[in-house]
Amino acid sequence: MSQWSSGYNVDVGYTYGFYRELSPNWLDYVATVQGVSSPKGNARFLELGCGYGLGLVLLAGMHPDYEFLGIDFNPVHIAHGRKLVAEAGLTNVRFEEADFVDLAQGWPQAWGLFDYVTAHGTYTWLGKSVREAMVQTIKHATKPGAIVYLSYNTLPGWTSTQPVQHLLRLWQTTEETQSIKAISQGINRFKVLADANSGMTQALPTLNTRIEDMEKHDRSYLVHEYLHDNWHPLWFSQLADEISAAKLAHVGSASVGDLYLQAVLPPAQKDILAQYEDPVVREVMVDVLVNQTFRKDVFVRGKTPMWPADQKDAILDTAFVLMNRPKDEEFTFKLSAGEVSGKTDVYKPLLEALDTGPKTIRDLMSAPFPSPRTLGDTLQAMTFMLHAGFVGLHSPIAKKKPAKALNRAIVKSVAQGAPYNYLIAPEIGNVLQVKDTDMIMLHEVLNNPATKDANKLGQKLVTRLLILGKGLVQEGQALRDNNSMVPYAVKLAEGFLETTFENWKKLGVI
Ligand SMILES: C[S@@+](CC[C@H](N)C(=O)[O-])C[C@H]1O[C@@H](n2cnc3c(N)ncnc32)[C@H](O)[C@@H]1O
Repeated sequence: MSQWSSGYNVDVGYTYGFYRELSPNWLDYVATVQGVSSPKGNARFLELGCGYGLGLVLLAGMHPDYEFLGIDFNPVHIAHGRKLVAEAGLTNVRFEEADFVDLAQGWPQAWGLFDYVTAHGTYTWLGKSVREAMVQTIKHATKPGAIVYLSYNTLPGWTSTQPVQHLLRLWQTTEETQSIKAISQGINRFKVLADANSGMTQALPTLNTRIEDMEKHDRSYLVHEYLHDNWHPLWFSQLADEISAAKLAHVGSASVGDLYLQAVLPPAQKDILAQYEDPVVREVMVDVLVNQTFRKDVFVRGKTPMWPADQKDAILDTAFVLMNRPKDEEFTFKLSAGEVSGKTDVYKPLLEALDTGPKTIRDLMSAPFPSPRTLGDTLQAMTFMLHAGFVGLHSPIAKKKPAKALNRAIVKSVAQGAPYNYLIAPEIGNVLQVKDTDMIMLHEVLNNPATKDANKLGQKLVTRLLILGKGLVQEGQALRDNNSMVPYAVKLAEGFLETTFENWKKLGVI
């Protein structure tokens, strides 16, 4: 463990993620549904513990008029963020290497104050004194009315995983095992414990599911999940108490389907909840009823209510765009309480209305549906579809140049082997999750328009994949050499040129 990281594992960098919940429009949506005012105008956005910064850079590309700052104490992360910014030529985002412990002592005046402050997956992996420093940092950095987003491991859901974290870390520190190896070795050791029917495995029935789940995850993610000195899932009440030092009040869940969690609980559970009045205790009791493991919460520094008519107008003006159709038209929504099924005759017409383009809630309410809809019903239905990713918030980007420049820089890096999976779709103001093969093909076509031919492009794709030491997988079968890869790559190129490329042009990706 290093001398500078206060027990946080810095053996390996984190993953290159994008989390839609950190987008200003998503945070504003939560605030609006909950009747809380959110920042107005060209805002300033801060991410604490920004990791490699890919997510922040994507947000900056989508909001050229906003100003973004990413902070992390790991120089590997900051150097990566700065490199990507330079390659994309973005001027509205920068990264600073800084430790919350130092920032708590004094916030650099030149950095100014922020309208949005986010910290995804950081808080409950820090020791108490560093958490206190992070809260002080938030206090120093936020404007009155600022929106703050925190996601963190929660109790009671993580209770049964406590032995996993403790044993993984114990084995690693005593045997001085390198972090990635410690994860693989640890997973095997838990399987051996299960096979031998250990008392712990019997007493904790969800342990095996957790281990099976770990096997599917990226190893760098697992290092950052488990291999720190500190790992403290918190009750919502504990977290609310700790962050009250930064004058933060709870707004609601950024896992937006959960904004309606209390409404979908079974009657016996609703009766239990009805016995508790205090809002913090109610949140805790919901976590108990659903055995919550991870919370994504939105807070505000100074809860200014929206006046009811303003809230209604803001909801009516909220626009949605079709993103991914549900498979087999099954409208199921995975909430913290489990799966909730939606009635096809309620959801299908709403989705069909989006076939002809983005629609506001106002449009969706006045569309000719079989049954009348209330504002509340429509909002709940659209919130569930937003949660499921069937629709996205529609906020097209006026100045598209920075987003397109970033997309070019991203595909160029992917062609060089960067593990990025996201591009901006400026026409709808959303981030698309995309395959590396499609990004490589886009890079080739942008570089040389003569490759806009499936045979040429397929061959180019294979050449590039082989340089990167990668193969292709066709129907579960691994293809590793030029001859076996080319016919399949040509098929991929046909699909890319006919559909994906044209679609990306419409979405303003290129
Ligand atoms: C689990 S990662 C989350 C990264 C990013 N937010 C994401 O979700 O992709 C936590 C981040 O917090 C940073 N971090 C941990 N302790 C810190 C401290 N004391 N000061 C600043 N950054 C810290 C780590 O370097 C790491 O990048």
